[in-house]
Amino acid sequence: MAREKWASKLGFMLAAMGSAVGLGNIWRFSYVAGENGGGAFLLLYLGFVFLIGIPVLLSEFSIGRQGQGDVVGSYQNLAPKKPWYLAGYMGIASAFLILSFYSVVAGWSLYYLWNYINGTFWVLPDAGYGATFQSLISNNYTPLFWHALFMVFTILVVLTGVRQGIEKANKIFMPALAVMMIGLAIYSVSLDGAMEGLKFLFQPDWSSLTDPSVYLGALGQAFFSLSIGMGGMMTYGSYLSKKESLPSATVGIGIMDTVFAIISGIVIFPAVYAFGISPSSGPSLVFITLPGIFAEMPFGNVVGFTFFLLLSIASLSSAISILEVPVAYFTRKFNWSRTFSSGLVGSIMFVLGIFVSLGMGVWSGVTLIGENNIMDSMDYVASNIFLPLGGLVIAIFVGWQWKKDEAFQASDMSTSKLRFVWYGLIKFIAPLLIIIIFLQSVGLLGW
Ligand code: PHE
Ligand code: NA
Repeated sequence: MAREKWASKLGFMLAAMGSAVGLGNIWRFSYVAGENGGGAFLLLYLGFVFLIGIPVLLSEFSIGRQGQGDVVGSYQNLAPKKPWYLAGYMGIASAFLILSFYSVVAGWSLYYLWNYINGTFWVLPDAGYGATFQSLISNNYTPLFWHALFMVFTILVVLTGVRQGIEKANKIFMPALAVMMIGLAIYSVSLDGAMEGLKFLFQPDWSSLTDPSVYLGALGQAFFSLSIGMGGMMTYGSYLSKKESLPSATVGIGIMDTVFAIISGIVIFPAVYAFGISPSSGPSLVFITLPGIFAEMPFGNVVGFTFFLLLSIASLSSAISILEVPVAYFTRKFNWSRTFSSGLVGSIMFVLGIFVSLGMGVWSGVTLIGENNIMDSMDYVASNIFLPLGGLVIAIFVGWQWKKDEAFQASDMSTSKLRFVWYGLIKFIAPLLIIIIFLQSVGLLGW
């Protein structure tokens, strides 16, 4: 059977951008930056995006397109009987871990959207947005309903032809989200006390670099935001025709994703300081800050509605790229239909998400990794360990398993002036940096 193909390069670009831009840029970026000290974290993150992220993204696309398979199959096709494909199983595990909590958080976004439709959030609730959010996420049932709804949307999109529709829709919604974020950034910067927030984001406080967890946090954020190391971009690359050229698409996606993150920082942090919220509030940060902005601004109810609509759509296009990883694998491996695989995989993820959601309330005392609750633990394992490890394998595969000319040919870099820069990064710098950060984070380097 011929492999499914994107109708055009634009279709591929939209799908990959849709995967990259999501909750990671707005929700995760701002809270992780807030927890890790702001400016110095931002610099590390930017460094990792350019030295590791974008080169790995190009490599992940290349393996998929050359290998013409899912995360496991691509490696098996390219290097039969070698153990590279084992990294594919880790990618599938990452997909289960990530979508289980991603769908819960996207559910919060849907719930906010609903509250902007029915009017509840148009004015500041008596208890304030902080307490309102807290009572939502610690409720046993409400968040599960929205989590279920989001998962159903995701499954439906993956199992029907709607995917193309979503991608086409992204042609309108993504620029709309960008315009909206820029508008919000301008508004946020004009708030009283905004300067403090900008300083927090852009003026590095070098002392935060003495905290060893900042490095792994920045690396994990770069991987999560660019959707790399899981195999989603590999799977998407496998649907791309050899006629299309990869490098410009890759750089475009990487830069766009990063700009989205920086702009959302400019939206969030001025408001965080203006409203006297702690930047290290964790996963609740945007959910208490943004409604505060909307409540203050003219037509804030319309803005709030539009914002959470766009955020939910951006999350959906990321979620489908996560669900696609196990679905592509199971449909090939067990010959299951797309309908059956997406339904089954999505349902399992929904059940895992129940634990995540209850971990915010009745089970908030349950800590799995260190002091982390269920969601933070799953996120930690996936984003800070599995994704960078998956990226390490991708880099080593392209840098060491492939011959140099094979790597250049598979990535369409043969005639690029930058081919040796990319090759040096992928062969030496990226693997070394990832290994150093891993060793450092477990205390093996003594700093
Ligand atoms: N990159 C997506 C975001 O920023 C999330 C994601 C992570 C998607 C990992 C695929 C793989 O929201
Ligand atoms: Na992202």
